[in-house]
Amino acid sequence: MMEIRLEKGALRAVRDDVLAVLLMEGESAPPEAVVFLGSMKKEQFSGKSGERYVVTTHGKASFERLLLVGLGAQKDLNADTLRKGAASVVRYCDGSKLKGATVICPKAKGLKEGETVQALAEGALLASFAFDEFKTKRDDIFHMEAFAILGSCSGAEQDGLARGYNLAGAQNYVRKLQEIPANLFGPDRGAEEAERLAKEKGFGFRVFRKSELQKMRMNGILAVCQGSAREPCLVRLDYNMDRKDLPLYAIVGKGVCFDSGGISLKPAKGMEEMKYDKTGALDVMGVFMAVANLEIPVRLIGVMPFVENMPSGSAQRPGDILTMYNGKTVEVLNTDAEGRLILADALAYAAEQKPKAIMDLATLTGAMLICLGKVGSGYFTDETTLIHALESASGKTGEKIWRFPMWPEFSDMNKGAYADIRNVTNTGEAGSSTAACFLKEFVGDVPWVHIDIAGTDNVGDPPHPYLNRGAAGPCVRLVTVALEELAKKK
Ligand code: BES
Ligand code: MN
Ligand code: ZN
Repeated sequence: MMEIRLEKGALRAVRDDVLAVLLMEGESAPPEAVVFLGSMKKEQFSGKSGERYVVTTHGKASFERLLLVGLGAQKDLNADTLRKGAASVVRYCDGSKLKGATVICPKAKGLKEGETVQALAEGALLASFAFDEFKTKRDDIFHMEAFAILGSCSGAEQDGLARGYNLAGAQNYVRKLQEIPANLFGPDRGAEEAERLAKEKGFGFRVFRKSELQKMRMNGILAVCQGSAREPCLVRLDYNMDRKDLPLYAIVGKGVCFDSGGISLKPAKGMEEMKYDKTGALDVMGVFMAVANLEIPVRLIGVMPFVENMPSGSAQRPGDILTMYNGKTVEVLNTDAEGRLILADALAYAAEQKPKAIMDLATLTGAMLICLGKVGSGYFTDETTLIHALESASGKTGEKIWRFPMWPEFSDMNKGAYADIRNVTNTGEAGSSTAACFLKEFVGDVPWVHIDIAGTDNVGDPPHPYLNRGAAGPCVRLVTVALEELAKKK
């Protein structure tokens, strides 16, 4: 991971490849930089968001290049514009093969001391993520190494740096695992990664293998994986379980290592992206990492069902009827609606642990991608405390979310002809809401929120201001900060 550090001292003492000055519209550069801007015309740089202007110092300064980065209008300045600014510096250095940059940034009104540094660290770290370990030809691969933030080095700034480092670090950890393709990442690998994390951080770890899942009658998980040559598993992580004084929360994530659709096979085009169908489960690991590193005062249970959805002679068929872990029966009318089948068992298991609330993350429906594109995630809950926690977290992390309804009409659309419910509706209408209402059948009366990350799991076109194309590690920061908000309420 790129090194990010705080540096105290005068601008003129900066020794680096690049001195990057982040500027708002109409703001002028400090004197140390202005010296080099003699030939710059107004049209060349005005501080608009996304703007960049570069000058070479030709040995007349202790830094090789001066980079101006526009942050946009002062009234719009917030943590997210700072993340974008920091990312712009990283992208410039990566593209120009420059190892290090020292960055100065204006104090943003409305941001507390430390929050500026946190946002810069997040933007820089997130923008620096690349998954190129399978490229054997390394000559044209370059990543900048050091990002220094010039500031006061106060305690608040140091805390901000640590927060940014931990939040973005957890998100990048998820992105790395997301990118691993299905030949190298099956259900067993999911369990292995969780165990490794548990050992490193001191979490409780349990894995339920196929025979235990059979004993427990986790038939949703078993049915989805029965067409695969690999066996399913259900992984559980525990954090702070001996701290009975702290509120208990559960997070559940969809872990489909590859979703071919099963017998209801998906079209070939773009099917490779279905390696990302395990993102929800990986998010659970990322949230555990961040929550532990930030020492957020909660008890946490993580539940991750890992499967692979494949067509074969042993695969489940449309029309099959399953009796789920909580006893409800489900008619499987489309084997590609598999996420809700594995989550049904995992959610019922999580609800049994009697947490104060459950949050689930799942790449659940293509319909969500149609609704919000890759811009934001849709969420479903009727609990005001959860709405407040998530909306407040979203404002802080810059991860966009939008609440969708779970009207009773949608539950009616899930009614089965032969069993209690069916895994797809007749019409396919309101696909994200009917899927959410399906999950609702399995949480009992435990407060719960479902987050559909089917659009936000990866970045495509247009590119994201600080996430490169590919795995996005969606909602890791969001859910971590939401837990922090909930912990404050107790
Ligand atoms: N994993 C997919 C959802 C998905 C689609 C995620 C596109 C990311 C991008 C899910 O398992 C699925 O296949 N859902 C079906 C449900 C349908 C059969 C009711 C879908 O959305 O088409
Ligand atoms: Mn599917
Ligand atoms: Zn799926």
